[in-house]
Amino acid sequence: MSLRIALTKGRLEDKTLTMLEEAGYGTEKVRDKGRALILPDTQRDIDYVLVKSNDCITYVEHGAADLGVVGKDTLLENEGDYYEMLDLQTGKCCFIVAALPDAALFSKKGRVRIGTKYPHVARNYFLSRNMDVEIIKIDGSVELSPLIGLVDGIVDIMETGSTLKANGLEVLDVVSEISARVIVNKASWKLKKEEITQVLSDLKKAVDRRA
Ligand code: PRP
Repeated sequence: MSLRIALTKGRLEDKTLTMLEEAGYGTEKVRDKGRALILPDTQRDIDYVLVKSNDCITYVEHGAADLGVVGKDTLLENEGDYYEMLDLQTGKCCFIVAALPDAALFSKKGRVRIGTKYPHVARNYFLSRNMDVEIIKIDGSVELSPLIGLVDGIVDIMETGSTLKANGLEVLDVVSEISARVIVNKASWKLKKEEITQVLSDLKKAVDRRA
């Protein structure tokens, strides 16, 4: 039975394709995709779709894709009904809390305002610290929001740390580690267990070879 795999485009795209190649999969058509949206593997009975991270969960949850590769950041932010089966140990970064040096975020009197693209993650983090914060959703360049006085601090992704550094922001805490994960549709896991197990096993071997 053929499989469809949803890959997250953007930041994780090249890293995921490299891992698939190391696992013996034929991703040439994905690398050379042009405007095509459904891209066959050149070695296996698999096709790939390249989608935005939130859509990766949606496609897998509804069974339009059997498997998906998506960042743990997206999984932590969104509820979803799927199996999380494998940590690919690539696309590593973390959720951090950051602020300007004089912000005194954790000792500030009155309501603290937090800017983030990840309101669910941010709310849970501050609840765990017994802090009732006001979350302000920002869609991009979250680091700007404390610089121009919109918020007291941010919860965001840090990869190299260079964006924070370039803007004079300090990391106050690490909320959680993030990496690319393989998720599986629940019905597909029953109906195509052999094929899916093979893909997971090939990828796991590629992960282990890197360790
Ligand atoms: C992410 C994140 C930070 C940046 C961190 O943004 O929100 O802004 O990357 O990376 P660094 O630690 O390597 O500097 P992204 O580039 O995905 O886009 P955005 O700013 O539009 O959110």
